[in-house]
Amino acid sequence: MEKPKIILGIETSCDETAAAIVQKQGKRVSIISNVVASSLEIQAKYGGVVPEQAAREQLKSIIPVIQEALRQAQCKLAKIDAVAVTQGPGLIGSLLVGVETAKTLSMVWKKPLVPVNHLIGHFYANWVQSSDIRHQISDKKEGQSDDRRLTTDDSTPSFPAIGLLVSGGHTDLTLMKSHGQYEYIGGTRDDAAGECFDKCARLLGLPYPGGPAIAKLAKQGNLKAFNLPRPMLDSGDFDFSFSGLKTAVVNLVRGKDFSRTPLFSSNLAASVEAAIVDVLVRKTILAAQKYKVKQIIVAGGVAANQKLAETFSRVCDRLSLKLFIPPPSLCTDNAAMVATAAFFNYHPSDPLTLQANPNLSLAY
Ligand code: KG4
Ligand code: ZN
Repeated sequence: MEKPKIILGIETSCDETAAAIVQKQGKRVSIISNVVASSLEIQAKYGGVVPEQAAREQLKSIIPVIQEALRQAQCKLAKIDAVAVTQGPGLIGSLLVGVETAKTLSMVWKKPLVPVNHLIGHFYANWVQSSDIRHQISDKKEGQSDDRRLTTDDSTPSFPAIGLLVSGGHTDLTLMKSHGQYEYIGGTRDDAAGECFDKCARLLGLPYPGGPAIAKLAKQGNLKAFNLPRPMLDSGDFDFSFSGLKTAVVNLVRGKDFSRTPLFSSNLAASVEAAIVDVLVRKTILAAQKYKVKQIIVAGGVAANQKLAETFSRVCDRLSLKLFIPPPSLCTDNAAMVATAAFFNYHPSDPLTLQANPNLSLAY
């Protein structure tokens, strides 16, 4: 099988519609174009993602987003070697839009179709060259710098590594043995880290998505103001639980008119952020020590959190562990990570039979 050099990636697992064209030369992966359309304003209005609404928005955006990715790349169709698409997990209505579009393009263009696990895809944001990201992505969100790549040099990760995936739906620790070999070693028993950020933000009257809103407010707060629980820190396994933290916040805000006491909100935001970061970093380091690995790969929307990145960076420096965290724009859902994952996990599927799978898991 001839190795692909240029892949079109498509990502529609939740509320972002994304397409990217990514190129591989030797070990180097670079972005040619990377387009993300988000229905964030609509989700913010409802305080979260409404699945039917998200699927309808996917339908509206998918063709314009792919067209824009092709236009920006100025890439002739003949140059594209394969189409990669997120197969799952995610919302079934949203996934179907991407998968059916990719199947159609694969058949009409006569290009191989490569299914990608969304969770694995997140990790592969760490294989994209950072210097290219700086040049290619201009639509940075407020307060985000794409210059951030927390590695001691500009290399890409190698194996074995401990992978921490922290997103809206997942908090998973995995032992990454090689491309395609990922052993799940623990995860959340209830709420995911991103979900905890989102729910605590809602309790504080902050908009969706809650992670960036809490992080912004936390900058003005004292992280020691509230002694919030750090559940399962000493459980002896690699599982997490964040629902107790949310309950503690419920009890603190109950009956309080905190709109009149801004310091209360910023102190609570800082304390929530510190508690989540503390648990994530400490359990990941314990996993690295138990499995005797020297590399840590962090991925997913919550990896965009600056305090998490800084804390990981400080601790990894101290322990001589090599750390990889993507720049913020590649932490949240995007298609560059999907196309990049396809290069390293290149298993084309039959476009007539590929099915979206909302329950795809990390371990296989
Ligand atoms: O990976 P992602 O974009 O979508 C999923 O696959 O779930 O992650 C979204 C999650 C949301 O819960 C959002 O609040 C969180 O990532 N998030 C953050 C930050 N940016 C996004 N959490 C903390 N700090 C941030 N800066
Ligand atoms: Zn995601």
